[in-house]
Amino acid sequence: MKEIISCSAPGKVILFGEHAVVYGFPAIALAINKRARVSITEGDDELKTLFTPDLFPKKRFDLTNEHDAPTQLKAIFFLLKKMNMVDNLSNGQQILIKSQIPPSAGLGSSAAVSVSLAMLGTKISNKKLTLEEINKIAFQAEKIQHGTPSGIDNFISTFGGGVYYLKKSLERIDISKISFKIVIINTKVTRNTKDLVLAVKKRYEKNKEYTKEILNEIKTITEQAKTAIEKGMTEKIGELMNQNQVALDKLGVGHKKITETVNILRSEGAIGAKLTGAGGGGCVLGIFSSKQEASIAVKRAEDEGFEAFITEPSKIGARENEL
Ligand code: PMV
Repeated sequence: MKEIISCSAPGKVILFGEHAVVYGFPAIALAINKRARVSITEGDDELKTLFTPDLFPKKRFDLTNEHDAPTQLKAIFFLLKKMNMVDNLSNGQQILIKSQIPPSAGLGSSAAVSVSLAMLGTKISNKKLTLEEINKIAFQAEKIQHGTPSGIDNFISTFGGGVYYLKKSLERIDISKISFKIVIINTKVTRNTKDLVLAVKKRYEKNKEYTKEILNEIKTITEQAKTAIEKGMTEKIGELMNQNQVALDKLGVGHKKITETVNILRSEGAIGAKLTGAGGGGCVLGIFSSKQEASIAVKRAEDEGFEAFITEPSKIGARENEL
């Protein structure tokens, strides 16, 4: 299938501060070098179609018939409309969406698709939108997809690099001094962000003083982590990740599979390891100083029946790809 034009955007990991962020404390997220890619390709008939092989490997959706679209694609159809994309396609052209980011794993895959698609929309129309505007439009799509998201995912996917999120304000962090590999293990235990946020809230209401203490610990860890990232202090970042994991366990968002996978990462030489995102299952991450060590950790995780891959922090946000 010949590509005519394509845009891509990165996924993310939350490195520090998940859950505490819900209570007005800071969180830090990084863009990773796993991306979603949205392209216009020549199809094999006269229709204008949408093909999302990762979600629907056997079905192409007719873009002129929105009612044909399942609810999972609602945010995508919203963007197609918002960016007036269907009118800007010729008959026989197809929008193809592919992603290297595992879906529903807390790694920002939906935001990466939304941002890429919004950017593609600007490229094929005469709309000259800034990255800030693309970010805002992608946020609207994220709200359709997730209800009340923080906006971290679309922000990081648009701009790349690192972000320090505090009370709805997003500040970019310089990540040029950090250089480590990240191993992500998917525990494959399904979890629901909303339920976990609610579970922490219940704990908070039941035992305010103790929970506040933990949230404050996470706040201090995250503040120290910001400085450590800006200064490129990898050992310190790892140490803080381990402390953050202890605090998350105390908050009650751990899981035996999280403990198991974090232990795999540490025993294979991770400088630091913790859950990322909501917890209760989902993904964990570890940072490594060499690709070789990271590869050994991935192999070990796979041998133990988990899905794992290597990634790294990435400064590259949304962009048009070279063909
Ligand atoms: O797993 P994710 O990417 O949905 O992350 C959830 C992060 C929380 O702090 C638990 C919730 C939130 O809205 O920030």
